Parts: sequence; C-alpha cells; structure tokens
Amino acid sequence: MREAALGIEDDAGSWREPVRLGGLVRAGMQLYLRALRLRFQLWRRLRPGTSFSDYYAFRVQRKLAEGGVHPTLGRNRWSPGEFRWYGAGALAFLVSHGLERHHRCIEYGCGSLRVGQHLIRYLDAGRYTGLDVTDRFFLDGLDLLEPELQEQKRPRLALITSAGLAELGRHPADFLVSIEVLQHVEPRELDAFLASLLQLVGPETRAFVSFREWKQPLQTAEKSWSRPARELAERIARIAPGARLEVVRGEWVKRSWDPSRKSILCIQRPAAAAHGPSSGAEDAKGSNPCPSI
Ligand SMILES: C[S@@+](CC[C@H](N)C(=O)[O-])C[C@H]1O[C@@H](n2cnc3c(N)ncnc32)[C@H](O)[C@@H]1O
Repeated sequence: MREAALGIEDDAGSWREPVRLGGLVRAGMQLYLRALRLRFQLWRRLRPGTSFSDYYAFRVQRKLAEGGVHPTLGRNRWSPGEFRWYGAGALAFLVSHGLERHHRCIEYGCGSLRVGQHLIRYLDAGRYTGLDVTDRFFLDGLDLLEPELQEQKRPRLALITSAGLAELGRHPADFLVSIEVLQHVEPRELDAFLASLLQLVGPETRAFVSFREWKQPLQTAEKSWSRPARELAERIARIAPGARLEVVRGEWVKRSWDPSRKSILCIQRPAAAAHGPSSGAEDAKGSNPCPSI
C-alpha cells in the first residue's frame, strides 16, 4: 500500500486507552453483540437475498413504529421547528471546505434529512440529491419541511439502485457527503458500500465520509462498527487506485465500551486516477483535498 500517497497516519500518539473498567465492560459488550449477531443471522435466514443494510432499515423502522427514538432518524415527536436544530454543523463543515450555493451535492445515506434539510435550504434549486437504502426515513423528513421550500428547491430523493448510481456517476456532483452511515455498514458489506459510493466520485468531486475510528476493527453496538482509517484507505486503494485521502479527526465518543472517535474521510479521485492505477509519488504531490478545520 502507498501510505504516503494515501496520506493516512494512524495518529497513534493520540489514541486514548479506555479507562480500566472500560476493558471489562467492552468484553461483556462483545459477548452481548455476539448474541445479537445470531439474531441477525436468523433474520436473514428467513429472508434469503437480504443484506445487513436491509436488516438495519427493518430494525430502525420497527423501533420508530413502536415509539422508540433514534438520534439521527427522528424522535417521532420532532416538530418542524425542533427538526431545524439538528444537523446544521455538517453544513457549516462543508461550507468551510468549499461548498457553495451553486454546487451539486449528493448525500449518500440521507436518512430523515437531518443534514439534508440544511443542504436543501442552502443550495440553489435542484442541486441536492439524497439517496438511501429505504425511502421510509426521507419521506418522514419531507413531512417536516415546508411545502414551499420543497417546491422552490426541488430536492431529488431516491432509493440507491445500481441503475441510479450508474446514471449519477455519469455526471458526478461537486460534493458527495455521507454522514453517520459507514459506521453502520457490516464489515462484509464494506467493499460493496465503498464501491457504490466511489462510483459517484468524479475527478472534480470532493467527498466527505464520516466514520467511527479506532486503532483496530471493533463492533460497538449491534449496528455500529469502528475501524482504523488505514483499513478504509487500503480498501479504497484497491477499489479506486490513486484516490487521495485525508482524515479530519473529531471528538471522542466517550462511552466506556466505545473508545472510538468521530472522524471524516475526505476523498478525491484526480482525473489520472479515474483511468487506472497511478504512481503513488505523483498522487502525494497534489493539493490537500481536506485541510484541517
Ligand atoms: C444513522 S442514519 C444517518 C442519516 C443521515 N446521514 C444523518 O446524518 O442524519 C444512517 C442512514 O444510513 C442508511 N444506510 C444504512 N446502510 C446503508 C448502506 N449500506 N448504504 C447506504 N445507506 C445506508 C440508513 O438507511 C440510514 O438512513
């Protein structure tokens, strides 16, 4: 692997080992998660051909239908006014990284438009596209947006399909964002997830993909995984040789069973890289796609 070209460091100096109790709690958590894994395997056995992302959507939808809460997909009782309070930080981050009103932006895994609502308001008409594996969440989100706004800005919302990805990939957007999604992708589906997402990244696209980072792969909840940036870099290098990567590291999650931090992977695929493997040395010389914030 060409680490220099990928620009990925492990940031070992700043890893925080969990507090002493954390080790025990995490061991117990891993046993619990193993039991939950059996539940998923049983669910899938009854529904041949489904994936973990189907299971994810099924579980969250059921939880919401039963009156449960989800931190990004709606608390069922959000009023339109309350909804506007959530997700604005992501827009500020993107604007500080060059997003302008006229840009075309695709959000991959847009959920209930927690972030999408701000992108829709900010971007010019027809410039926002939200994609997800289920329409349940974005239909909920649309219900919370003013009809005039929807009419004026004409957001495009669609299910993720291979035909849709191929079509969008033919006219890559200026920005691709995926927030709080990658952490919910089951390890065996990660390459397929990255390949789909990278299909939408053209030579001019700036992609920002949030993930939970820890120095080794770690499942932290039934539907959440943390991973080393290096692992993601290796996977991306195999799928999109020559892609340039940077990591912006954010805050620590701060739960005793979850030592990871919230990081963002910034991806660019220079034109040369889009046409086959390139020399790592050349890639390393380009401008930093994701200056620190
Ligand atoms: C935690 S929510 C985040 C939603 C939104 N990005 C936000 O920040 O509010 C995760 C979203 O990812 C979607 N998702 C889960 N697995 C996915 C996959 N393999 N590909 C694309 N989206 C996926 C879910 O349907 C859900 O809408």
